[in-house]
Amino acid sequence: MPTKDVHYSDYLQLDKILNAQTLESDLQGAPAHDEMLFIIIHQAYELWFKQILFEIDSIADIMGQQVINDNSPELQTVVHRLGRIETILKVAVHQIDILETMTPMDFLDFRDFLRPASGFQSWQFKITEAKLGLRFPERFAQEYYISQLRPEHVALIKNVEAKPSLLDLVNEWLERMPFFEAPEYWANYTPLAPVQPDRHPFWSDYSAVYKQSLVEGERANLQPFETLFFDNNPGAERRLSPKACRAALFIMLYRGYPLLQAPFQLLNNLLEIDEQLSTWRYRHVSMVTRMIGFRSGTGGSSGRDYLKGALDKHHIFREVAALSSFLIERRRLPKLSKELEERLGF
Ligand code: HEM
Repeated sequence: MPTKDVHYSDYLQLDKILNAQTLESDLQGAPAHDEMLFIIIHQAYELWFKQILFEIDSIADIMGQQVINDNSPELQTVVHRLGRIETILKVAVHQIDILETMTPMDFLDFRDFLRPASGFQSWQFKITEAKLGLRFPERFAQEYYISQLRPEHVALIKNVEAKPSLLDLVNEWLERMPFFEAPEYWANYTPLAPVQPDRHPFWSDYSAVYKQSLVEGERANLQPFETLFFDNNPGAERRLSPKACRAALFIMLYRGYPLLQAPFQLLNNLLEIDEQLSTWRYRHVSMVTRMIGFRSGTGGSSGRDYLKGALDKHHIFREVAALSSFLIERRRLPKLSKELEERLGF
């Protein structure tokens, strides 16, 4: 039984939240009506960022375990929470519609009072990117990134960057996929063609079928195919190892099998999150162009050009997305052995 009555206002600490909107234009003696909307929108974003970080942390706790059963409630939980992040991001994108009810002239009424503050200083946003997997060398305009943030916020972000990100954890999880190392699943596999030396019979067949599937203008895909899936010395810039890429491709190819459905959804959720983040960036940069044209940002960046650079460069799960280049039609898929089919759920 609760020891005291909970009251709505206390529970939500509304006295704090509802008293946290101080208009800079009021303080400067030139009240600007739309600044209230501007503050509330940003606060709403920060609350959603907080929720997203909470979900990412809980997902990382599960994914960081040495063993996760792909058929377990834990993996379902990961998929479910990634789906929640996606839904929040969709709302985040739509919130831009509300801010766009403010006109450029409404914004000009208070814009100069805000300098040098900027959404760029949202450390929660930067931590979200870092926890998902964006590394410092991959950031657009790195000097700017360091110079605009408070040292304690840079330290927070660096601390996150030093730990395994969701992308790193996904890589390790994919690498643990057991099917190719278990001889019992391949003893009764019938290769479609003579097996290439040093290549698993399945991947030997797959390489041949993939090669056949390429039309004349696509022949150049063979090189990245070999590098992505079979190069034993992948460069440090690679986020998914060849082994992880093979596992992810296998999941995408055979996702009809029950055991691969949750892993497939997980990969698909990552792509959806990237797409929603990019959509947000795109909507943000369009709004910025509409609001301030080619002027520089309050945070001192080139404004539109900086944001476009980040939009093009910050695709966190692009290596997962790139795997689609290496799929083949279902009807050409190598037939799995009865033992592996049973293991995968039929
Ligand atoms: C009138 C509306 C807005 C304008 C004109 C605007 C403008 C800008 C500009 C020019 C930048 C580049 C940095 C700078 O020089 O300041 C920036 C960055 C940023 N803004 Fe906004 N912004 C607006 C609304 C928002 C809202 C509602 C959010 C929600 C949190 C937001 C979040 C961000 C973030 C996270 C960045 C950094 C993006 C990155 O580094 O990739 N902005 N904004």
